[in-house]
Amino acid sequence: KKIQIINGPNLNLLGKREPTVYGNASFEGYLDELRARYPQCEIAYFQSNIEGEMINKIHEVGFEYDGIIMNAGAYTHTSIALHDAIKSVTTPVIEVHISNVHARESFRHVSMISAACKGVILGFGLDSYRLALEAFIQSTVNK
Ligand code: DQA
Repeated sequence: KKIQIINGPNLNLLGKREPTVYGNASFEGYLDELRARYPQCEIAYFQSNIEGEMINKIHEVGFEYDGIIMNAGAYTHTSIALHDAIKSVTTPVIEVHISNVHARESFRHVSMISAACKGVILGFGLDSYRLALEAFIQSTVNK
C-alpha cells in the first residue's frame, strides 16, 4: 500500500520541541522504524509549516495513494481550507495527534478537520501514526 504521512507546523522540531508533551524522539528516527516494521507499505513523508503546501500535497497524492495519515498540528484547530482539501480528494485521511488534545487547553478541543476524515487517533505519542497505519493495512479504511 502507498501511504502518505503529512506533518504540519512545528512538527519538524519533534524531539526538541516541548519534550514533556511530545517526547524526545525525532520523527525521522521514528519513520525509519516504521518503514522497517512495515516493509509491505511504501511510506512517503512530507512536513511543512505552511498550510498551502499541505493542501498542495493532499491534492498531489489524494487521488492516487491508498491513505493519508495527517497531523495538521495547530492548523487542526483553525483550518477550514484543510477540511475542504480532505473533502476534495478520494484518498481517505486519518487525523492523528501525538498528545491527547482533549486533556490540554480548550482551544485544542475543537478540530476543523475531523469531520472530513475517516477517523481520528490521538494521545498515543508517536505510536498514533503506527495505529493509523494499522487501520489502513487491516483495510478498516477503504478508498
Ligand atoms: C498536535 C496537537 C496540536 O494541538 C498542536 O498544535 C501540535 C501537535 C499533536 O500531535 O499532539 O502542533 O497536533
